[in-house]
Amino acid sequence: MTGAPSPAGKGSEGRRRRRMAAGWGRALLPPAALLVLAPLVLAPDPYGEDCKTKTYPPSGPTFKGNVPTYIINLDLPPSKRWDELMRDKKTELKTVVQNIKDIANTFFPSGKIVDIVDHKVSHLTETLPYPFNEELQGIANSSGVPLGEIVIFNIFYEIFTVCTSIVAEDKTGKLYHARNLDFGLFLGWDVKNNSWTLTRELKPTVVNLDFQRNNKTVFRSTNFAGYIGMVSGVKPDLFTLTMNERFSLDGGYVGIFEWFLGRRDGMWMGFLTRAVLENATSYQDAKDKLAKTRLLAPAYFILGGKNSGEGCVITRSRTAALDIWDLDIKKGTWYVLETNYDRWKPPLILDNRRTPAMKCLNQTTQENISLPTIYDVLSTKPVLNKLTVCTTLMEVYNGHTETYLRECPDPCSPW
Ligand SMILES: *[C@@H]1O[C@H](CO)[C@@H](O)[C@H](O)[C@H]1NC(C)=O
Ligand SMILES: *[C@@H]1O[C@H](CO)[C@@H](O)[C@H](O)[C@H]1NC(C)=O
Ligand SMILES: *[C@@H]1O[C@H](CO)[C@@H](O)[C@H](O)[C@H]1NC(C)=O
Ligand SMILES: *[C@@H]1O[C@H](CO)[C@@H](O)[C@H](O)[C@H]1NC(C)=O
Ligand SMILES: *[C@@H]1O[C@H](CO)[C@@H](O)[C@H](O)[C@H]1NC(C)=O
Ligand SMILES: *[C@@H]1O[C@H](CO)[C@@H](O)[C@H](O)[C@H]1NC(C)=O
Repeated sequence: MTGAPSPAGKGSEGRRRRRMAAGWGRALLPPAALLVLAPLVLAPDPYGEDCKTKTYPPSGPTFKGNVPTYIINLDLPPSKRWDELMRDKKTELKTVVQNIKDIANTFFPSGKIVDIVDHKVSHLTETLPYPFNEELQGIANSSGVPLGEIVIFNIFYEIFTVCTSIVAEDKTGKLYHARNLDFGLFLGWDVKNNSWTLTRELKPTVVNLDFQRNNKTVFRSTNFAGYIGMVSGVKPDLFTLTMNERFSLDGGYVGIFEWFLGRRDGMWMGFLTRAVLENATSYQDAKDKLAKTRLLAPAYFILGGKNSGEGCVITRSRTAALDIWDLDIKKGTWYVLETNYDRWKPPLILDNRRTPAMKCLNQTTQENISLPTIYDVLSTKPVLNKLTVCTTLMEVYNGHTETYLRECPDPCSPW
């Protein structure tokens, strides 16, 4: 392959790349697919743009709406906690689950995979720790979606989440935490209107959750209805937390296969973040748990506290923290940022959201950092891309959270 892709993906190169991406969707092998596609694109990102300014409060074509808030009452038995949410969202959940099944059936036309999921995976639920096992059973019961499919749906979130997360500190020592949630990589490209089918179908399932005990907020999160792990959350006046997928070929998916085969000593990543948000008692306690608990797959945890200097990116292998990148105001590190690549390695040329995000944060400067200016950064292509489902802005003080559904009008990077 020689020659640069034409701008905005309008030329034949752009079309070819999109066709390939759609084809690879059937293979369900995102990291491998990325590696194959990587050498095709050697030119600067054709979808890049100047750093956005004054995009907040959200409006215009990149803003697709607000999301509703539901209370999850932790005083209820786990099997009842999700009933109210499921009453409202079961139709949307079924649409997404059906889409995932269609993809599986395209790849394995015999229908065997779905059959295995419906009849075998549900038994695995019993081996999950409390309260997750009972919550999943409750969701299956109240949504009418078979238990095995609910479990697979939860596993999908653990695997297919590509994101951009930022923790930043302003000149007064105030901390901000924000993220774009990008989801649906390689899961069905819709050529008719240039969008990822799953990304589009997920938007109506996005909800803000307020987890309460004794009628008081324990933590808040932004979730997909039907998923019981946590990818973004805030524990008021203690810490903020987001999780990003870490593609790693060194045993990345081995743990998940081992789990299917019966090995149970690692924890699902989203269950760890949930347990930390629910039960960790301080920034340090959260940091220790996120760094040390054995996991089923690698991940990045991005953690913010409430005091100056409390912010870090924890790069995890299944067994250990490989790196902890802390804020260091004295040395000029006033923000930490994670996309889906180890910070000591260059990001994939094909998927470089890190450099544009850093460029925009650097341009903003610490003097002017705030939730609105961070929203600007997260609204700049390709940090904003076709996979972006929503943007969440959080402040630890009082557990402040804002979530906005997003749209990325053409020309826009597919990821
Ligand atoms: C399943 O849901 C029905 C109502 O939809 C409820 O009556 C029943 O108690 C639930 N069963 C379990 C095990 O939660
Ligand atoms: C995209 O096209 C599909 C049908 O191919 C349609 O159902 C969907 O509403 C369209 N989405 C948008 C955002 O236009
Ligand atoms: C929570 O509030 C509801 C009504 O607002 C009340 O009926 C219930 O008893 C309260 N629960 C607790 C544990 O305080
Ligand atoms: C948090 O701790 C409580 C009390 O020990 C326990 O019942 C609950 O299951 C824990 N939550 C999670 C998600 O592990
Ligand atoms: C942003 O600033 C940091 C710290 O000065 C520097 O290391 C980094 O290379 C800059 N990145 C970009 C993309 O400008
Ligand atoms: C910071 O914000 C002020 C006030 O809005 C503006 O005058 C200034 O140019 C900004 N600085 C940078 C580096 O953007």
